[in-house]
Amino acid sequence: ITSTASATIVEHSFFVKNLTVNRLCNEQVITAVNGSLPGPTLLVKEGDKLVVHVFNESPYNVTIHWHGVLQLLSAWADGPAYVTQCPIQPGQSYTYKFKIIGQEGTLWWHAHFSWLRATVYGALLIRPRSGQYSYPFSTKPYKEIPILLGEWWNANVVDVENEGLLSGLPPNNSDAYTINGLPGDLYPCSENQTYRLNVVRGKTYMLRIINAALNNQLFYKIANHNMTVVAIDAGYTQPYFTDVVVVAPGHTTDVLVTFDQPIGSYYMAARPYASTVPAIDFANTTTRGLIVYEGDTSSTSPPMPELPDFADTPTAHKFYTNLTGLAGGPHWVPVPLDVDEHMFVTIGVNLELCNTCAGGQRLSASMNNESFDFPSTLSMLEAFANNVSGIYTTDFPDEPPVRFDYTNLTFINDPDLIFTQKSTKAKKLKFNSTVEMVLQNTAFIGIENHPIHIHGFNFHVLAQGFGNYDVVNGPKSFNLVNPQIRNTVAVPVGGWAVVRFQANNPGVWLVHCHLDVHLPWGLAMAFEVENGPTPSSTLPPPPADLPKC
Ligand code: C2O
Repeated sequence: ITSTASATIVEHSFFVKNLTVNRLCNEQVITAVNGSLPGPTLLVKEGDKLVVHVFNESPYNVTIHWHGVLQLLSAWADGPAYVTQCPIQPGQSYTYKFKIIGQEGTLWWHAHFSWLRATVYGALLIRPRSGQYSYPFSTKPYKEIPILLGEWWNANVVDVENEGLLSGLPPNNSDAYTINGLPGDLYPCSENQTYRLNVVRGKTYMLRIINAALNNQLFYKIANHNMTVVAIDAGYTQPYFTDVVVVAPGHTTDVLVTFDQPIGSYYMAARPYASTVPAIDFANTTTRGLIVYEGDTSSTSPPMPELPDFADTPTAHKFYTNLTGLAGGPHWVPVPLDVDEHMFVTIGVNLELCNTCAGGQRLSASMNNESFDFPSTLSMLEAFANNVSGIYTTDFPDEPPVRFDYTNLTFINDPDLIFTQKSTKAKKLKFNSTVEMVLQNTAFIGIENHPIHIHGFNFHVLAQGFGNYDVVNGPKSFNLVNPQIRNTVAVPVGGWAVVRFQANNPGVWLVHCHLDVHLPWGLAMAFEVENGPTPSSTLPPPPADLPKC
């Protein structure tokens, strides 16, 4: 760490390489950063500059994405493969350089190629700039603890993804959920792989909860203790008191917990919130860790929190919709009131015709029935910066092909809607224009809650609900005063969410479902944001070491 008068430069080296670990009675070779799972926790202050040298010593192509970092004028460091850069090939390296501006709380980093993020991920903790605690809440946390919730496969995840894509069916479900890389003692051979947090009675801790799982939202609870949510996605919230936290893949949630119960041990636990009844057995899918008070000598078995049922949508919806932003607090951004671009975007799972597949079709996914195909010869951002045509087009539609009852499953007989075609389409935005997107779930194949992540921007979540969005009356329910600000919104199952943001960051920005099973199926689109009028609103030229395809 080097300090200069104006900003601190925080420098790290990431060595991405094979690591052999024992999990669930098996030895498994995984791809990991610096020999650990999860990878290193990065600690910065708002205003700092991060410089991360990534050396790819693994057998796979890889990129690193800094999930939720706004990347103002640093799109070259965003990381999604073939969107802002070609992958770092085995034996190659790339240095990501970016500043953290206007964000405080918790973000994280993860691989953004194939399914490698299953094991290539870590926390990014952002503290206030001042160098001392100046959180907008009175209780100074005694300690801050990252809680990374993850997913584990007894298999090579790249193979799992590829088999899924080839078969046209959903790939295998994971074999365990994890807390800080550990499954916990409810899983076989895992007694010694239970995350343990030692605490001092009477102290308040900040737990920085990250959902790094690939395909599941998670409920998180601590036995006998409540939590106060103070930040989500690196933005402060009105304090929200709760006994349960719900996190979708991509989300982060910072909570304060005061350990004020009798000296003893207590379990924390997480298990899926699956918005629609899945065709798999959800027994034994609870990960848990132990909180041990200092001085605990008891031998009784610790209490276990009672987690909501895996299909408990009311609990999830209550949590998600009760969160509000800390209007007027540090880095608060008021809602832009004049909208330049109104978009109505359907999201969901479809089918696509396929010559080589059994039955001639396979699962696909889309936004406005366009199923996103990643380029492979050049990144979209390089095409944008160098005016190269043929990599993508800018005709992403503002509306779906037909407006109808998206929640009516009988429409699955309409081949124009059920089947998608592959395309690589972006929506072009003027610099600083304000975009409002209605994200509407479709019900062609089934319904589920899709966590939609927008790269390069935070957005205000103005409203969300079930069923079809009411274009006429919907705006009456908008919260324009203190809506939550996020980088990922969990669009309610069979429902909709309305988000708004200002396109103040030139570049090409991916928008996608953060369920990794849906991304290779095509549940994505991109924004192309033009340069602004001044050098300070123009994307700089690419760094010299930007990887080549
Ligand atoms: Cu956290 Cu495009 O990803």
